[in-house]
Amino acid sequence: MSAELFARTYGRVPEVTASAPARANLLGEHTDYNNGFVFPAPLPFRTSVSLARTEGPEGAVEAVSANFDGRLKHAPGAPAAHHWADYVAGCVEILRGEGFAIPALQVAVAGDVPMGAGISSSAALEVATMRALNHLLGLGLDGRRIATLGQKAENQFVGMPCGIMDQMVSSLGEPGQALFLDTMTLATELVPLPANYIIAIVHSGVAHRLVDGGYKQRRQQCEEACALLGISSLRELGVSDLPRLEALPDILRRRARHIINDNQYVLDGIAALKAKDYKRFGELMSLSHLSEKDDYGITIEETDRLAEDAVTFGALGARQTGGGFGGCVLALVAADRAEAWWAAMAPRHPLARLIYPVAN
Ligand code: GLA
Repeated sequence: MSAELFARTYGRVPEVTASAPARANLLGEHTDYNNGFVFPAPLPFRTSVSLARTEGPEGAVEAVSANFDGRLKHAPGAPAAHHWADYVAGCVEILRGEGFAIPALQVAVAGDVPMGAGISSSAALEVATMRALNHLLGLGLDGRRIATLGQKAENQFVGMPCGIMDQMVSSLGEPGQALFLDTMTLATELVPLPANYIIAIVHSGVAHRLVDGGYKQRRQQCEEACALLGISSLRELGVSDLPRLEALPDILRRRARHIINDNQYVLDGIAALKAKDYKRFGELMSLSHLSEKDDYGITIEETDRLAEDAVTFGALGARQTGGGFGGCVLALVAADRAEAWWAAMAPRHPLARLIYPVAN
């Protein structure tokens, strides 16, 4: 995909092409920046990046995207310019900051990851860019390092204070499996997804927006709760510690309770999947949605209605995925009932789109 765009744009073939997937998170939302547990899975949507060295100063980037008009330029050392190429330039700047020499580059980006859906188009672009540079320049980065450097690009260059979940699953995930990640130790375990069920992904039709500050504010509220509780992260507390939250003001109590409960839902969910207890896994998804809604305040009316209807029409469970304030709802549905399930859902949600599985 991106190789053709590269050839069309720059009149030569790229030296390297690499790609990386988007993700859906099954359980454990906003837990990653609290040193907690997450349980995402890679999706069959990918971003691909083709690049080649060119004449010019080290760290200069010229980039095109199949999804946006124009040829964007980044001068070495320049700050983020608030457009899609920041994710590419951010990777280059972070690698330079780590002491790697990065030549001037021409870059082309393409792919089929829906944007604004909350399935992490940004991490897919960062990981694909890091992979491409790793190959081109023989940097010797392993999958974990690619993920942490991608997160650094997003935190320090783009300015979005995200956790490590998206880059880790994009870098280390395997198709058909979910990735249990302990964000404190970065330990991972692959857990097979149920065979006769699908995780349907429904875009609510409302683009998720993290730029409005809701994400950052949640992060600050968790930090405030920790300061008042005298702990360094909410990971230090489990469900048996919930009574300790009584000491907090109402809003912080609810924020902290979500993190503690959703961490537990991840652990319980993995146990349920391993025991092939899909009904329980579905229940945990729905509990997690309620926690996102009532305690963390990151859902919207459309995703609440979708999650509720999904179960009414036969899903074992459903929840909003990702950073929140819109985006997608996941539903665990028996594969042989999926078509009838969506046929019942669709008329009630004219704005919503089933983005996975996609009808051919
Ligand atoms: C965004 C961030 C992740 C994570 C999720 C919420 O996708 O990039 O680090 O915090 O939101 O779970």
